[in-house]
Amino acid sequence: MQLLDPLFVLVFLAFQNVVYAWFRVPCTSPLVHDRIDPIVSPGVIPSNHIHTVHGASNFAANSTYETLRQSQCTSCRVAQDLSNYWFARLYFQDPQTGQFEAVANGGLLVYYLNRGSGDKSNGGPGLHAFPAGFTMTSGDPTARSNSSSSDPQQRLRIQAVEFDCLRYPSDQGYNGYGFPTTDCEAGLNARIHMPACWDGVNLDSPDHMSHTAYLSGLDNGDCPSTHPVPLLELLYEVTWNVHDFANRWSPGRDPWPFVYSTGDPTGFSWHGDFQNGWDIVALQNAIDQCNNASNPTGSGVTEACSFLTVVNASVASTCNITAVVDEPTETNLTNLPGCNPIQPGPNEATLYSDSNCPSSSPELDNPLRAPE
Ligand SMILES: *[C@@H]1O[C@H](CO)[C@@H](O)[C@H](O)[C@H]1NC(C)=O
Ligand SMILES: *[C@@H]1O[C@H](CO)[C@@H](O)[C@H](O)[C@H]1NC(C)=O
Ligand SMILES: *[C@@H]1O[C@H](CO)[C@@H](O)[C@H](O)[C@H]1NC(C)=O
Ligand SMILES: *[C@@H]1O[C@H](CO)[C@@H](O)[C@H](O)[C@H]1NC(C)=O
Ligand SMILES: *[C@@H]1O[C@H](CO)[C@@H](O)[C@H](O)[C@H]1NC(C)=O
Ligand SMILES: *[C@@H]1O[C@H](CO)[C@@H](O)[C@H](O)[C@H]1NC(C)=O
Repeated sequence: MQLLDPLFVLVFLAFQNVVYAWFRVPCTSPLVHDRIDPIVSPGVIPSNHIHTVHGASNFAANSTYETLRQSQCTSCRVAQDLSNYWFARLYFQDPQTGQFEAVANGGLLVYYLNRGSGDKSNGGPGLHAFPAGFTMTSGDPTARSNSSSSDPQQRLRIQAVEFDCLRYPSDQGYNGYGFPTTDCEAGLNARIHMPACWDGVNLDSPDHMSHTAYLSGLDNGDCPSTHPVPLLELLYEVTWNVHDFANRWSPGRDPWPFVYSTGDPTGFSWHGDFQNGWDIVALQNAIDQCNNASNPTGSGVTEACSFLTVVNASVASTCNITAVVDEPTETNLTNLPGCNPIQPGPNEATLYSDSNCPSSSPELDNPLRAPE
């Protein structure tokens, strides 16, 4: 069977009728898979769960805007962008053996979207480039079900993660929240909307969320008055090759066998992180001057924006680094990295860090570690 190019599918699905400006940063093969997190657990090795990381080569447990700007290369294809993008990794759990195997993803596509009432096209003051040192997260690693919270921002945080089960002959698969239940011949597609409003003051916050907020309609509407500075909305789009495992499980007989590295078989815990490494002048120019949705500068053709330099995919894909946490992460794993137990919910999960490992090795038992 001929596999569709996942990037084509994504663009086609998501942007058939665009009327707002956007460009994209395509990221090639991952920079690294590692159990560190410079936002949630800065300086801590190892952190709670393993992530798939894309972007600049100076990614580290203690990376900063300044260190990212000194990166030698990036696995993403816009030269002015030395940011990092990371998200929880997906594993297949063999129903026969209970063992875990990593599932490959065909890169990451990051959409930079001009959205919301703050955008000039909607009569707003215009969007701000991410400032130096800015970080943000979206999604909730402890979530295992839909949120019924009375806090609209918490509901948006769960709704920010959407799944699509890409199937043949045309896409008639599951499209919604939480994991599907069938094989997805052309891949399991997940999207996460990042918050697009900023408090204008803090580059981070104790929960790594509350300095930012979602637009009232997730990708349209208004910023709350507490977070008045409108930003570009980032949308991450990833497709995992779940079909590689199609002959290893039986939909109907077996439960959905894929889990996130958080120990999540529901999909609700998927989350994404962003650490800014942009040339801020170039980004602001791209926002202000490559924003005409009626011509290529503002309709996704990154090459058309003279402030951005698109790097050849074959060059970007050679940019990778070695994981700092030396542990098995790929195949035949008895436990997920960090021994995160499977927690099916629907209640909020507990975050563990190695404490659950039956024979945790002393070098991984870092006293500085912080719960996520
Ligand atoms: C980050 O940690 C590495 C390894 O411990 C160290 O060499 C480096 O100086 C640290 N960088 C910063 C910016 O703290
Ligand atoms: C989860 O909540 C969203 C938004 O409220 C709703 O559209 C969706 O149908 C819900 N999904 C499930 C599985 O309940
Ligand atoms: C946007 O692009 C279209 C097509 O090239 C052009 O006709 C229009 O004048 C442009 N709008 C602005 C505001 O430059
Ligand atoms: C990318 O680089 C490869 C090898 O250097 C070359 O063959 C290919 O034509 C380049 N692609 C583009 C789009 O420039
Ligand atoms: C890392 O990049 C090198 C080329 O620079 C390549 O040979 C190697 O296969 C890559 N490793 C991974 C894990 O992608
Ligand atoms: C992993 O387990 C599978 C069976 O589940 C087996 O066929 C394979 O040889 C194992 N691989 C390694 C590297 O042990």
